[in-house]
Amino acid sequence: MNAALTEFKSRRQTMLAAMGVGLAIIPTAAEVIRNRDSHYPYRFDSSFYYLTGFKEPDAVLLLLAGDEAKSILFCRDKDPEREIWDGFRYGPAAACEEFGFDAAYSMDELDAQLLTLLANQPKLYFGLGANAAWDARLTACLNSLREQARSGVSVPDTLCDPRPLMDEMRLYKSPFEQAILRESADIAATAHNRAMQFVRPGMREYQLEAEFLHEFYRQGAQAPAYNSIVAGGANACTLHYNANNAVLRDGDLVLIDAGCELDGYASDISRTFPVNGKFSAVQKDLYELVLAAQLAAIAAVRPGHAWSAPHEAALAVLAQGFVDLKLCHGSPQAVLESGDYRQFYMHRTGHWLGLDVHDVGEYKDKNQQWRSLEAGMSLTVEPGCYIRPAAKVPEHFWNIGIRIEDDVLVTATGCDVLTAKAVKSVADIEALMQTS
Ligand code: GLY
Ligand code: MN
Ligand code: MN
Repeated sequence: MNAALTEFKSRRQTMLAAMGVGLAIIPTAAEVIRNRDSHYPYRFDSSFYYLTGFKEPDAVLLLLAGDEAKSILFCRDKDPEREIWDGFRYGPAAACEEFGFDAAYSMDELDAQLLTLLANQPKLYFGLGANAAWDARLTACLNSLREQARSGVSVPDTLCDPRPLMDEMRLYKSPFEQAILRESADIAATAHNRAMQFVRPGMREYQLEAEFLHEFYRQGAQAPAYNSIVAGGANACTLHYNANNAVLRDGDLVLIDAGCELDGYASDISRTFPVNGKFSAVQKDLYELVLAAQLAAIAAVRPGHAWSAPHEAALAVLAQGFVDLKLCHGSPQAVLESGDYRQFYMHRTGHWLGLDVHDVGEYKDKNQQWRSLEAGMSLTVEPGCYIRPAAKVPEHFWNIGIRIEDDVLVTATGCDVLTAKAVKSVADIEALMQTS
């Protein structure tokens, strides 16, 4: 059996064991119209993909737990006419074989088969509210089953959400996933380096975007993992800026937040660098402060540390720096306690990373305490500093926005920085930019 097949089958087995009994219905994402008859590029549902490896639209996984556990796929039929227009589709027989299901059927058979499979099940696992069409389909199916009550058919009396089970599984990256995450991170890191080499004053932000997209696709990534941010000068102070159409000016910094998706797995990198290749003194002061905060946060990523430890480490460095640079006043402790730092740093320091860029998984435990980091978890570390014009802020800092973001994997003893190839010290950035 090939490694991918073994991996996906073992995920389904783990999920079936976690369910105990009952039937889970896990649909993939619907295709979405962009305008008139053009679609957005299709992206499968992450959890469906996690359990199947199957990328086609119009498919659903049924997991039947219990003594005779089964994984059943419903998917599109083969259709030679449609395949001339839209391309290859597996069809149930080949999908069953290729992806290792116990059975596979046409989507046309789903409603009838659901009635049989759901009859007399004690539990139904279904994520209500994710898709109105699926909610309606399930409701219709349950109502049909209820109509059979006089023939002795019972309807599941427990509805469970399968998402917490799948989310918890997805939080721990297997070696198979870690290898893809590493490659996704590596492609994005090279792409950021390319952007540093190609930037010139007078370029438009989208022209710089073209450089890293070029590298994503050249190296086999299927898509950007999220809407890329290319923000010159003051635009970097807008956290989710994505117009990406302004002129990049000599003397400004440019912030790029961009990552790619490789075989479903996201990378998520931010780098900030001078458009003209050389940091000014004030840019350097702020940049080195954010970098020091980021390095402190990365050092705090280790098994047994709380999820919040990297954020707290970054905050401690930033609060001290804001006081030293006279952006904040009073002691660093007072700045932390009052929250005054939020004028310049208003987001948290990272998030889980995986099939979704803001990946699934709880951040707190059942007692509402931050959960502990464990080997196999992957996350971003992304402190920043954003200085908008304001009365009490020294003018030389105005309109500087900086974020430095890396992707890390928690290991047995600490963490691996998966995006280490993207240069980030002042000296390394300037050296790379001068050789280009
Ligand atoms: N690029 C999205 C984020 O950094 O969270
Ligand atoms: Mn991020
Ligand atoms: Mn990001």
